[in-house]
Amino acid sequence: MCGIVGYVGHQAAGPILLEGLQRLEYRGYDSSGIAVLDRDGALAVLKRQGKLRNLQAAISDMPSGATGIGHTRWATHGQPSDRNAHPHASSNGDVIVVQNGIVENYRELKAELQASLEAEDRTWKSDTDTEVIPELISRELEAGKSFEDALEHAIGRLRGANAIAAIHGANPHKIYAARKGSAGGIVIGYGDGEMFIASDLPALLPHTTTIYHLEDGDIAAINQEGITVRRAGQSPFQPEPIQVDLDPVAIARGPYRHFMLKEIHEQPRALSDTIRGRARLDPPTALADDLSLSADTLRGIGRVLVIGMGTSLHAAMIGRWWMEQIAGIPADFDNASEFRFRAPLLGPSTLVVAVTQSGETIDTLGAMNHVRDRWGAPQVVITNVDGSEATRQADASIIMRCGPEVGVASTKTFVGSLAALYLLACRIGHAQGRLSDENLTLRLEQLLTAPSLLERGLELADQCARIAQQFDSASDFLVLGRGIEYPLAMEAALKCKEISYVHAEGYAAGEMKHGPIALLDQHFPVIALAPRGPLFGKMMSAIQQVSARQAPVIAIGDDGDEELSQQVDHFIGVPPAPPLLTPFSLTPVVQLLAYHIALARGLDIDQPRNLAKTVTVE
Ligand code: G6P
Repeated sequence: MCGIVGYVGHQAAGPILLEGLQRLEYRGYDSSGIAVLDRDGALAVLKRQGKLRNLQAAISDMPSGATGIGHTRWATHGQPSDRNAHPHASSNGDVIVVQNGIVENYRELKAELQASLEAEDRTWKSDTDTEVIPELISRELEAGKSFEDALEHAIGRLRGANAIAAIHGANPHKIYAARKGSAGGIVIGYGDGEMFIASDLPALLPHTTTIYHLEDGDIAAINQEGITVRRAGQSPFQPEPIQVDLDPVAIARGPYRHFMLKEIHEQPRALSDTIRGRARLDPPTALADDLSLSADTLRGIGRVLVIGMGTSLHAAMIGRWWMEQIAGIPADFDNASEFRFRAPLLGPSTLVVAVTQSGETIDTLGAMNHVRDRWGAPQVVITNVDGSEATRQADASIIMRCGPEVGVASTKTFVGSLAALYLLACRIGHAQGRLSDENLTLRLEQLLTAPSLLERGLELADQCARIAQQFDSASDFLVLGRGIEYPLAMEAALKCKEISYVHAEGYAAGEMKHGPIALLDQHFPVIALAPRGPLFGKMMSAIQQVSARQAPVIAIGDDGDEELSQQVDHFIGVPPAPPLLTPFSLTPVVQLLAYHIALARGLDIDQPRNLAKTVTVE
């Protein structure tokens, strides 16, 4: 979703802003723009619809300046176009703003400002909600306020969640930034005689690892020497930066053709890193030092509700399974965007577990807010981004250690979420006395084999590629699974939709005969997830029903399973896994199939159309 960058220093801002935007491309966008300010206060704005190369092609015509802001826009209000791309200017051209988020009351504000604009014979220049922000600031400046006061006033008028960066012609050596609500973060980067801002860390890492995260409600003025923050109830202060130890190399693509492929292959390491020190065998403990919930809270949990969106929702579905099977506790999952709107009944002993790789998904944050305000139930967040908004809202966080994920379609953070959910189920079951030391040891030992299950799944990459190439022109897929493999069937279908743009449905195999079977013929391939387990016989029946309709079957089952391989058109054999661990053996294969279908179709795998990595709008 939208990305923000900013620079103030001694170098030409344009190329630095452009490079920062390139590092945020993974978030998803459909237009981009930059604004630079020279030392005399002259402002220049450049905006282009489409990919950043369109902006790059025009940047040499732009006057240079050492202060500037930039933006990649994912359209919400108004079509993707040059005119709707950010930055947006006040009608007098003096205040320039970029925004992530939505100004929910922009219609009211536009109507309020309309009369003044007309009196001055000026008009709105875009269809966006953002344009009211520079206009509101500019009106306050005209009334004699300082820029910080004007910005504070303008933000006070906005309804919704907003992350903002701004520059002003009369302050040529400053950029301003503000954060309100959960529209994504603003990170400030400290350089040597230069300062950077960005909505996400990857844009800053090539320049600095000394950073500061703005908090909700902060307004910051940044010059080339540092930052001054205004926060409600405090005098303006210069915050203490922190050091991050992320390696810029970790976010480079290396020898892989796409970040998604790189991240699929990083899964064994992401999983090992996430469980390191959290699955101890002697004495058996799960998440010993990593869960800041009291023993009383853990013992008092009567039910677990796991929520999330997209891939995180599928992890939540698998998490529900583990809560029941490992922790022995009643559990449910819910789609975070629907959850709060049906006035859910939680009760005080429910533990809510929010899964969100970004920690910024607005639907999930909305659900967490609802839980806190309405029920006060304890909440744990599982996320890949320490310091993200979700970690601030939750009572406890389990931080995955997957490293930055750049591909829009989540892969390694899926297995990171699974590892955290599994460990949490172990911890709850043990704390409640339902999981004996002996059984906890067994569960943890099994989890410790999961990285090698992933490794062996990755060895099937060539076979996945060959099979995928045979189906590159299929327009539909049905993906079937049962039990713990059902959520994985949904995840496989989601991956096909996200990156291959192929219509795919993930279905519980038992449900297939109640409708989807009517679609099947020789042109409708079916992917069947059928490892040996308690439901294997029922999966075989479903596969036979599919074959009887001449639909081609690609089955993923246990390596060496003759009965299955003889029944189907294509067979991929994964390492046999204990029944509760099959998500780890199957995941790389379904991801690789989707990846290679997309590759064969020549698609933009890391930045699929219309999608965003961090979804900060409802
Ligand atoms: C977007 C991403 C998905 C992700 C979903 C939830 O749609 O493209 O890959 O699964 O958001 O994101 P979260 O950060 O909450 O896990």
